[in-house]
Amino acid sequence: MLNIASKLSLAALLVGTINTAFAATTPAAAPAAATPAPATTAAPAAEDIAKYRHHIMETLGNMKTTIEFLLKGKVAANAGSIADQAKVMAMLTKNIPAMFPKGSTTHKSDAMPVIWEKWADFEKLAQDVATKADTLAKVAVAGNAADTEAKLKDLGAACKACHKDFRKDN
Ligand code: HEC
Repeated sequence: MLNIASKLSLAALLVGTINTAFAATTPAAAPAAATPAPATTAAPAAEDIAKYRHHIMETLGNMKTTIEFLLKGKVAANAGSIADQAKVMAMLTKNIPAMFPKGSTTHKSDAMPVIWEKWADFEKLAQDVATKADTLAKVAVAGNAADTEAKLKDLGAACKACHKDFRKDN
């Protein structure tokens, strides 16, 4: 199982990957005499951000599962710290809307176009998840397992609330 340090470096790696991907599409990377970026620039950017959020979302789902393993005592407590993992979830949920620039659907993406028609609702659900992840982290740091389990359930329900309205096949 990944320890928390490798998870953090995974998160850092993912952030680095997308930053590099965006940097590659900036005019600075183009030859000096090049004409302005063609309209097709939007397509690879949508691919990249959709891939990026896929990895972040998968990471969140995996971390929810690893915290459940720890809470249930299925693995030894020294295999990972619930509080550290909850803090990473809080960090990764801080700015979910930024991973959904307008129209960034691809043939592989499960993001529903209605996201950008009901953007305020989408942002509200994202904020709710960020707040609940913060609460989870605080309770996990305090160390009460029953409280932590309850807050993890609250968080999971908030994740699902967004998927229900805005992710395909839910
Ligand atoms: C504000 C809306 C929103 C919130 C909040 C949200 N998600 Fe998602 N999630 C999505 C959307 C939209 C997709 C599909 C993205 C795509 O395919 O482009 C998705 C995809 C996923 C996937 C599948 C991976 C993929 O991209 O196909 C997992 C796993 C997941 N989310 C877990 C979570 C967890 C766990 C939380 C809570 C900690 C969470 N999500 C919070 C909207 C949200």
